[in-house]
Amino acid sequence: MPYELILLEVEPPVGVITLNRPAVLNALSPAVIAEVTAALGELERDDSVRAVVLTGGPKVFAAGADIGDMAERGPVEQLARDQTGRWAGITAFTKPLIAAVNGYALGGGCEMALMCDLVIAGDSARFGQPEINLGIIAGAGGTQRWPRTAGKYVAMEVNLGGQPVAAQRAYQLGVVNKVVPAEMTIEAAKRVARQLATKPPVALRLAKEAVNLALELPLQQGLLAERKNFYFLFATEDQKEGMHAFLEKRRAQFQGR
Ligand code: HXC
Repeated sequence: MPYELILLEVEPPVGVITLNRPAVLNALSPAVIAEVTAALGELERDDSVRAVVLTGGPKVFAAGADIGDMAERGPVEQLARDQTGRWAGITAFTKPLIAAVNGYALGGGCEMALMCDLVIAGDSARFGQPEINLGIIAGAGGTQRWPRTAGKYVAMEVNLGGQPVAAQRAYQLGVVNKVVPAEMTIEAAKRVARQLATKPPVALRLAKEAVNLALELPLQQGLLAERKNFYFLFATEDQKEGMHAFLEKRRAQFQGR
């Protein structure tokens, strides 16, 4: 499908989605989200792709939802078009999704990064929820994922104060996996993606699912879900391949079966 607001590149085993509205700092209109989720759908179905990088390019990740698109809307209209519900296509993606963040990741931009499985930040990155300054609050997970990631007090600071958190502090808070020089961010994220792409795809999928369930479920239910995923993996050829390769002292070749 042709895209107008994003770029989609497939360099097997890695897919790269780049937000592409530089004139408005990649502001996330509903049309951008529709393209991102459509591209993720394509990459989900493409067996040559085993991990995906989501980036805004070298200068900015995304400065939030499109304020011009929201300014005059009413609540019933917002409900009817379910602006943020449509982002569920991002969290539904089952392969590893790695955010490569340079510059501003604000509002919905920050929330989009927090929906990813790993975050590689350039030293120029700034993460924040400035919605409070617009008379609203975060609407795509900012009040929920910050406390689960960085704890209540940081979440309050970010959501009530509206000041962005710089890359290095975000790293100290555990919000990002790694900080690299800004010109290296996308390549560093691709490297992580290529590394994950060598892992068994079914196990990757079930590990991602289980870790995400830890944020939703009480411990005993989470442990049960993990155990079922663990047992299920003994039905895969990749489990046999992985264990035989270890015993035969060779590198495993995983097929995703
Ligand atoms: C629409 C935006 C935008 C946005 C920037 N632009 N952010 N347009 N929506 N979120 C536009 C500007 O209007 C401007 O257009 C151009 O991008 C460049 O931005 P500047 O402000 O001139 O750049 P700069 O001075 O470098 O400041 C960068 C900035 C600032 C600090 C990031 O742009 C800013 O504060 N942006 C808004 C951030 C924000 O409040 N985000 C939360 C949005 S609400 P022109 O035409 O003038 O050149 C949200 C809710 C999420 O995200 C809920 C879930 C969907």
